[in-house]
Amino acid sequence: MPKRHIALTEKLQDYVLDMSLREPVLLRRLRQETARLPMAGMQIAPDQGQFMALLARLVGARRCLEIGTFTGYSALAVALALPPDGRVIACDVNPETTAIARRYWAEAGVAERIELRLAPALETLDALIAAGEAGRFDFVFIDADKENYDGYYERALRLLRAGGLVILDNVLWGGWVADRRRTDPETEALRALNAKLHRDERIDVSLLPLADGITLARKR
Ligand SMILES: C[S@@+](CC[C@H](N)C(=O)[O-])C[C@H]1O[C@@H](n2cnc3c(N)ncnc32)[C@H](O)[C@@H]1O
Repeated sequence: MPKRHIALTEKLQDYVLDMSLREPVLLRRLRQETARLPMAGMQIAPDQGQFMALLARLVGARRCLEIGTFTGYSALAVALALPPDGRVIACDVNPETTAIARRYWAEAGVAERIELRLAPALETLDALIAAGEAGRFDFVFIDADKENYDGYYERALRLLRAGGLVILDNVLWGGWVADRRRTDPETEALRALNAKLHRDERIDVSLLPLADGITLARKR
């Protein structure tokens, strides 16, 4: 099959950002503060945040779910794109990094739109399903521990309405998913899930080589 993707040199990446990135000042500050942390690489890229905000608007999202919040960049990018009555339930287990998130959400004036649930995300999702929330979400972002991605995906499909969108981050995992010599549990989990989504008739799907690879799956 012919390769149709243009090679993204650093110069061209800079051009893409120069021509498209509209990062709000507060998000940029959050990125700069997060850059000083040892786990800074976990944060999504700013152009990905902008793309997700656009997607949230395109699906008319009001009720959103995030699995993996860290210092709150993606939750804030999405919350800023929601109407005033929009809501994000943000799942994480780390009280320290999410304290940074809460500070920025408050400063941005969207703290009341984001509900942080500090617990293993599988428990939070099961609790939402048990509380009768299945079919009531418009938008789900999965960006936590890779070995649980399949569990998050299955629960996300239950929680989404028909036409709702689930976004999975890091699906190319630094390119390792295409390297058969990599057999660690995280790579294997992502590889199996990518193959499962490819043939999953419950969704419309697209795997995009943006940032570390993101899959868009629309619930049919
Ligand atoms: C890649 S980071 C998320 C980055 C974030 N979306 C952003 O925009 O900066 C992954 C996060 O998942 C959280 N996490 C890991 N295992 C988890 C679990 N079982 N339940 C909930 N959160 C978890 C980690 O604490 C970490 O903050």
